[in-house]
Amino acid sequence: MKGIILAGGTGTRLLPLTAVTSKQLLPVYDRPMIFYPLNTLIKAGIKDILVIVTPEHSGDFLNLLGSLLRKFGINVSFIVQPAPRGLAEAYVLAEDFLDDASSTLILGDNIFEDDFAEAIQTFTGGGRIFAKEVADPERFGVVEFNGDYQVLSIEEKPERPRSRFAIPGIYIFDNTAVAIAKGLAPSPRGELEITDLHKHYLGEQSLDVRVIRGAWFDAGTHEALFEAGAYAKEHNFASNFHPMLNDAIREFNVEFKKTISLKK
Ligand code: TTP
Repeated sequence: MKGIILAGGTGTRLLPLTAVTSKQLLPVYDRPMIFYPLNTLIKAGIKDILVIVTPEHSGDFLNLLGSLLRKFGINVSFIVQPAPRGLAEAYVLAEDFLDDASSTLILGDNIFEDDFAEAIQTFTGGGRIFAKEVADPERFGVVEFNGDYQVLSIEEKPERPRSRFAIPGIYIFDNTAVAIAKGLAPSPRGELEITDLHKHYLGEQSLDVRVIRGAWFDAGTHEALFEAGAYAKEHNFASNFHPMLNDAIREFNVEFKKTISLKK
């Protein structure tokens, strides 16, 4: 199992914050946003991680993450997405990186409290998405499923949702995702849609779902970004981080301070 973090996009809903930096580098309380999805993958036991970035911000991601985890046995690599052509393009871009492996894709602005280790370890093939009960499902992609957690339907922002379960930005797919993504046509908004990938697996009856616990933030708006930061502070989210990642961040800070004093 390999991991992909989608950290591209335009972040227009967060302007002017995103005029000069990437959304996924903005602070969520005491650390850049991308550390949260990175933590989710590391806690799930994933050791090979691809970060998909924009051309404008690739250098910043490299400076922050390029050697952060080197000595901890976690391989972090990068690939540039030239234009925001949709979430499913991740699988096209990641073809060489994946090298026929299954993968967990997480959106770089999604913050999860839950642990995905069990869902990833028990994954045997096909696709697996997640579900979070929300009060306003009509604002989200909505999943309907049966007692065996097989997906029955997926609807994008439905007026009359068939369930109260939103689909958060973390997905597990087997190695066929690359071929399926390559065969997708862009939607009217010009993007390769992750929903179309889901629907392909659904059509083959090989899509299941797991219900997540704990907090979930899609930190793509000012309101949600603020709430995520407040939650991280109030709930001491740092203690939810893998100790190795907390150590790596501490060491990063020490090394960074050293380079500052060398420059003086
Ligand atoms: P979105 O929040 O849907 O898009 P965005 O980040 O461009 O923001 P806005 O709508 O405010 O302009 O994207 C979800 C996540 O996926 C986010 O972390 C950015 C990432 N993403 C990519 O990496 N590549 C893409 O082509 C797209 C569309 C999104």
